[in-house]
Amino acid sequence: MRRSVFDEVINRSGTGALMLARERYGVPADALPLWVADMAFRTPPTVTEALAERVRHGIFGYSLPTPAYYDALAGWFERRHAWELDPRTAVLTRGVVHGLYLTLEALTAPGAGVIIQPPVYPPFFEVVRDTGRRVLANPLVEDAGRYVIDFDHFEALARDASAFILCSPHNPVGRVWTRSELSRLAEICLRHDVWIISDEVHQDFVYPGGRHVVTATLDPAVAARTVTCTAPSKTFNLAGLQLANLLVSDPAARARLTATYGAQGLSQQPVVGLLACQAAYGGGADAWVDELVAYLAGNLALIEAGVADLPGLRFTRPEGTYLAWLDLRGLDLEPAPLRRLVLEGARLWLSDGPTFGAEGAGFQRLNAAVPRSVIESALERLAAAVP
Ligand SMILES: Cc1ncc(COP(=O)(O)O)c(C=O)c1O
Repeated sequence: MRRSVFDEVINRSGTGALMLARERYGVPADALPLWVADMAFRTPPTVTEALAERVRHGIFGYSLPTPAYYDALAGWFERRHAWELDPRTAVLTRGVVHGLYLTLEALTAPGAGVIIQPPVYPPFFEVVRDTGRRVLANPLVEDAGRYVIDFDHFEALARDASAFILCSPHNPVGRVWTRSELSRLAEICLRHDVWIISDEVHQDFVYPGGRHVVTATLDPAVAARTVTCTAPSKTFNLAGLQLANLLVSDPAARARLTATYGAQGLSQQPVVGLLACQAAYGGGADAWVDELVAYLAGNLALIEAGVADLPGLRFTRPEGTYLAWLDLRGLDLEPAPLRRLVLEGARLWLSDGPTFGAEGAGFQRLNAAVPRSVIESALERLAAAVP
């Protein structure tokens, strides 16, 4: 079989990779790191070449996004997501999580209620608490491995909420929300005057049968109430370059975000982040992304087949994201022994389910954006450890 560019195992030791920070987290040296959501793949050549050219140029002074940057941004969303956006509505931040902090500070008051839907990306809890807002949890409802939204409870919470942080597609459960689910959520938010903060950082990882719908494309009235958080960081493995694009069509909201950004002592963006984003979105890497998504689908299929044979484990393939949300509730273990079984028994360093909210008890999240040989090794370790 033809080897894929994604089959290459690249040594990241000595690069400061968070993924390998075992001492910081007290993780055994032999545990295979499949936790934090960045990929074990090299960014596409179009990005490395753009960065290399700039390194040769050798000047890294204060920089602004160029017209070519905005063209690349608009082009990507038009080509890939059928979204005709005005790229000048972008507020650039140091990452999506930074953008979430900024948005809550700028658009809601201290003490405001903010809806999130656990199990969900842990910083959603942190950003609400750190900014002195209140978490209003609308847990997703699990039905035989598929998660759905409790709309009645969502509506009850919306009466007391100023904002809703939507995870679309949803980390860690892998749902790609349908147009009708999104419309229903948006309709409730509009009726109760709730800002929609739509975190779409996983939007490029959607598998056959699913289609990512950009929340802001539902309707102009929805767009006016939405802050769309996007970044090239997941799609092109650029998280360390710290750049995100928040699309904010409401001019007053945009002005508030920009002012809040300035009040944090920030003005420009890191020049390497700008260059990498422009190169990534510019058109030279579309085929690379298609190949990547097909490769990840193969990894997830392999996990599905491997887990099917293991007693007490269950895995439903995600509709989107490269994250495998493994259900180990059938092993009937308390959280601490389950964590020990995975970390010390299987020697797998995964993300522990309860960090995504109490609803994550009994689950572990595995990052599948690694060479296939690493997935094979992870499955062997799991098979050897489960009783
Ligand atoms: C839903 C979600 N939002 C945001 C991020 C992080 O984005 P950034 O690195 O741009 O802050 C992640 C990373 O895993 C994520 O899963």
